[in-house]
Amino acid sequence: MVDSMPIPAGRKARRRAVANRRAGYTVPDQKNEGGGRTMRVQVAIVGAGPAGLLLGQLLAKAGIDAAILEQRTADYVLGRIRAGVLEQTTVELLEEAGVATRLHREGLVHDGIHLCFDGTRHRIDFRELVGKTVTVYGQTEITRDLMHARVAIGAPTVYEAEQVSLHDLDSASPRVRYASGGNVGQIECDFVAGCDGFHGVSRQSIPSSMLRVFERVYPFGWLGVLSDTPPVAPELVYANHPRGFALCSMRSTTRSRHYVQVPLSERVEDWPDDRFWDELRSRVDSDSASALVTGPSIEKSIAPLRSFVAEPMRYGRLFLAGDAAHIVPPTGAKGLNLAASDVHYLTRALVRHYRQNDDALLNGYSARCLRRIWRAERFSWWMTSLLHRFPDTDAFGARIQQADLDYLVGSRAAAASLAENYVGLPFED
Ligand code: APR
Ligand code: PHB
Repeated sequence: MVDSMPIPAGRKARRRAVANRRAGYTVPDQKNEGGGRTMRVQVAIVGAGPAGLLLGQLLAKAGIDAAILEQRTADYVLGRIRAGVLEQTTVELLEEAGVATRLHREGLVHDGIHLCFDGTRHRIDFRELVGKTVTVYGQTEITRDLMHARVAIGAPTVYEAEQVSLHDLDSASPRVRYASGGNVGQIECDFVAGCDGFHGVSRQSIPSSMLRVFERVYPFGWLGVLSDTPPVAPELVYANHPRGFALCSMRSTTRSRHYVQVPLSERVEDWPDDRFWDELRSRVDSDSASALVTGPSIEKSIAPLRSFVAEPMRYGRLFLAGDAAHIVPPTGAKGLNLAASDVHYLTRALVRHYRQNDDALLNGYSARCLRRIWRAERFSWWMTSLLHRFPDTDAFGARIQQADLDYLVGSRAAAASLAENYVGLPFED
């Protein structure tokens, strides 16, 4: 079934085609999509998460046509609860894609974060330390804005695409096959963008002999609760406590997202709301505890923590972007921003290929992305090591963690380093 948002026929499609041409969007011919036919586009994108959708929008704006294959329905993709702290560079990319209007209207600009340990809150002032800020705007909302923008330009997206498989990646004309509504479809293209996340088919399509993976799995998870209650503070509160890590975050001034560190053996059903609120309150400073408003959870889940990088991010005509190539623990709020920065580099490389017939950026794509990715992996691993309680930490390790926290709130240089990484390192263009 092609795209759960029906495609208009006749006059509306022609009117849109004219509007697209005026707006500079390039959209492939629609009549041959899905239903067992072959579609020809310049770029086939696998996955309609933030990486795939943002790439689709930036390519359309640059006059490069692309089709997206997504295994789930649009509603399912929108239903996934994900973080939402945006670096300035990510906000600028969303502006470039023409999907930042609601972000600027509803997003919350934050000048800093709070670190809380030994019952005391310490503010890290990003604006004062590095002159930059972050924006709190949920990944779900970004995905929604990107989906609407894609429908608005009528660009092809096949939702519920099953059995997606990649072929001839080491040739000049790769193909992507899929099943949809009982029919077999095929996309012929110049390039494939693997934006299908950690469990997707793209990375698995690279011969294992060509791929090197680096991984760290943490011995705990994050139990997260979403609730329509006001945040405990105007900015995020990250807490290191003997009972474990906690985070008080938000989606808006009326909707909060909170997390507590739990052993991986824990199950959601063992955590009724009251137990969660009591545990959270016990781990934060007294100001946050007294400001904490509790209420029924509207979502509750446990997420494992992992650091993962696959190298290289290219195999022939296949380019990986986002979670398909790397995972960070959420402590540094880097997941979405890294996906966006991959898309930034891939868009520039494809535009250079099509406009100047120059493949230098395509050939340098993997190395350029990985330099930025490893810096974000280091920061996310460091934040995780700094703020969580590890079951095997010995007395020496506990003192080192304490000294790291003390140094951080006692040294402008250390605080500025955290701030610089948290707000996002500049693109190396
Ligand atoms: N065929 C088609 N689509 C697929 C396949 C497949 N075989 N496998 C997975 N997908 C789809 C998933 O259903 C999902 O919608 O690919 C999409 C991948 O989206 P994400 O997992 O959100 O990955 P990405 O777009 O890279 O976004 C990274 O998501 O997990 C967060 O913290 C992470 O914020 C980061 C962001
Ligand atoms: C969130 O709001 O879900 C969130 C914020 C910051 C993080 C992780 C998650 O580091």
